[in-house]
Amino acid sequence: MSYSASWRSPSNIALVKYWGKRDIQLPENPSLSFTLSECVSVTTLEVNPDDASGSLAVFFDGALQPAFEPKIRAFFSRIADRFTWLNTSSIVVRSHNTFPHSAGIASSASAMSALALCIKDVDDQMAGEALTHNVDWWQEVSEISRLGSGSACRSVFSHAALWGQATGIKESSDHYAIPWADKLAPVYKDFRDTILIISAGEKSVSSTAGHALMNDLPYATARYRTARQNVERLSAVMQSDDSLDEFITICESEALQLHALMMSGEKPFMLMEPGTISVIKSLWHFRAETKIPVCFTLDAGPNVHLLYPASHADKVMNWIRTELVQYCDGGRFIEDRVGEGPEKI
Ligand code: PMV
Repeated sequence: MSYSASWRSPSNIALVKYWGKRDIQLPENPSLSFTLSECVSVTTLEVNPDDASGSLAVFFDGALQPAFEPKIRAFFSRIADRFTWLNTSSIVVRSHNTFPHSAGIASSASAMSALALCIKDVDDQMAGEALTHNVDWWQEVSEISRLGSGSACRSVFSHAALWGQATGIKESSDHYAIPWADKLAPVYKDFRDTILIISAGEKSVSSTAGHALMNDLPYATARYRTARQNVERLSAVMQSDDSLDEFITICESEALQLHALMMSGEKPFMLMEPGTISVIKSLWHFRAETKIPVCFTLDAGPNVHLLYPASHADKVMNWIRTELVQYCDGGRFIEDRVGEGPEKI
């Protein structure tokens, strides 16, 4: 008998960044993210336990991709004590993204969370269990996702998620993310994230190398302390609709700190492109002139995420189309927004 499961799972964008890890994807500081809606991975897992060859085939966008196998095998080996069938079945993974892979949009977050959901789903089917997706179920999926890619553990919850032990939040954990939607004021539940694709090329630095840079950085301790404080501040700020100024201050400081850390290593990385800086400067000018509460954040790449309340969407989109599109690779941007989390297909 063979089994299969299909899930869509979104990417997420960290507002307070996870940058620095220990052991197997345990974070050095807590992070807080928006779950996205349009940037998703769609994954199908097919498992044949009667074929004990342990073979693995990974298809991406319909084409066989042996280059993706090592990462998926490494993930399987981390979770094989829970899902022993991973080593004794033939497995096919079929996945596609709705956004450019390795463009600094966290494709590993959507891909690994989608795969974790499929694994848990197939495991439930094998156990003959009714699929009750209760709080514990989602917590386990978040933990499995973390073992695939740290930030993936935040993608499994709608709207927003908090990952990592945070001061004063006793249910928080380094092992899994917790849902944060209920803690958000209405304005944040309907936030927009327009992602300007400054460069759609491959990332020049893997996030593994980026996290490793933190191990030798003299500023690391101060960074982890600041991130802890920023999670505390931001989680309080986002409970009120009337807090956009402070939201903007924290988000932009977090984004630039992430890149400043990368630029501070003995072997530094520079992931911003000239277009990234031009967009940021244009944004500061636009915000000062119009008083529209739009701000930016960055991931580990050159693309700029513009964050703003839905009520300002028309004016912001008009500005993007007239002023900012010149900085986008092929004029491309993705109109994303805070979303509802994963979905079984
Ligand atoms: O999950 P990883 O190992 O790809 O690390 C992600 C790190 C950042 O995207 C830069 C920040 C974050 O918290 O998502």
